[in-house]
Amino acid sequence: MARALFDPERGYYTRHIRTVGSRGDFSTSVTLSPSLGVATAAWLKAESGILPRVRHVIEVGAGDGSLMQTVRKALGWWTRRQFTFHIVETSPVLREQQQKRLGSAIHWHESLEAALARAEGNAFIYHNELLDAFPATLVEWSAAKQRWLEVWLPESLHPHQHEAAHYSVLRHTAFKDGQRCEIHPSIRDWLRNWTPQWKSGAMLSIDYGGEFPQLYHRRPQGTLRAYLLHQRLTGADIYANPGRQDITADINFTDYRAWLAKLGIEEASHQTLAEFLRPHGAPPQLLDPHGAGSAFKCLVHRRTVCAS
Ligand SMILES: C[S@@+](CC[C@H](N)C(=O)[O-])C[C@H]1O[C@@H](n2cnc3c(N)ncnc32)[C@H](O)[C@@H]1O
Repeated sequence: MARALFDPERGYYTRHIRTVGSRGDFSTSVTLSPSLGVATAAWLKAESGILPRVRHVIEVGAGDGSLMQTVRKALGWWTRRQFTFHIVETSPVLREQQQKRLGSAIHWHESLEAALARAEGNAFIYHNELLDAFPATLVEWSAAKQRWLEVWLPESLHPHQHEAAHYSVLRHTAFKDGQRCEIHPSIRDWLRNWTPQWKSGAMLSIDYGGEFPQLYHRRPQGTLRAYLLHQRLTGADIYANPGRQDITADINFTDYRAWLAKLGIEEASHQTLAEFLRPHGAPPQLLDPHGAGSAFKCLVHRRTVCAS
């Protein structure tokens, strides 16, 4: 998945993505409606009331730049000029689209560590549908062996090398034979890399997923899937066209919350997208408690004390 999405020469995000939205392979809530941008701007205003000395805003994984554009517009001229805006983007194709859309008002960085260095560690951070693009590791429960095995390509099962203490899936032994789940060492490593440099601020994480084990209820094949021209592909089709189609998996928020807690970062709130958007108005498909509105979660974490 890491190579299919991020190989420097042939990766989907690095080379072949056209854009995000109706003209690309998949849409996101950002490309469907401006309401997430309006709600994110309201969140930034509220957070800067709590942490008035934080003057940098960082979006990670900004797609075609439309969320940053709406956030800046919704903040209004006065508030906008109080902040310096940054984007962390690893896709050269999307960075170019963002630069066309947003112009010189933004500072671009290759990594969150670099953006935080520029902000001297004090920043508000937000990301929408970033984590679901991180490479997932597929595991399968063997009832006969009473253990989890890692799925390799071409499909075959192997002992895994991951520490069960870090992954709720690997500590769970009550699934039916053959249940597949994803774990995300890539997200855990990413958090461990940049959080030591974060001195103060707040982070809004928006993504699809849920708590474990409910996340895998009635999903014996797990949540891994691909998107090509807005078609959802599962099974062996996920491995077809490497580098030419998006691959994604749901986020296990039980793990994500535990990793941040372990890193000493305080959780301020945990809502569904519908709950986050409702005060600001949004189209029905994003507020639907049985659809996108509940499949997406919005977590706020706060860093108020400088960790040495
Ligand atoms: C699924 S798209 C979502 C785009 C946008 N946030 C939206 O909601 O429309 C994932 C985005 O994250 C970027 N990305 C993936 N991994 C990244 C990483 N490690 N650091 C920064 N950006 C990353 C991709 O290039 C892309 O812009």
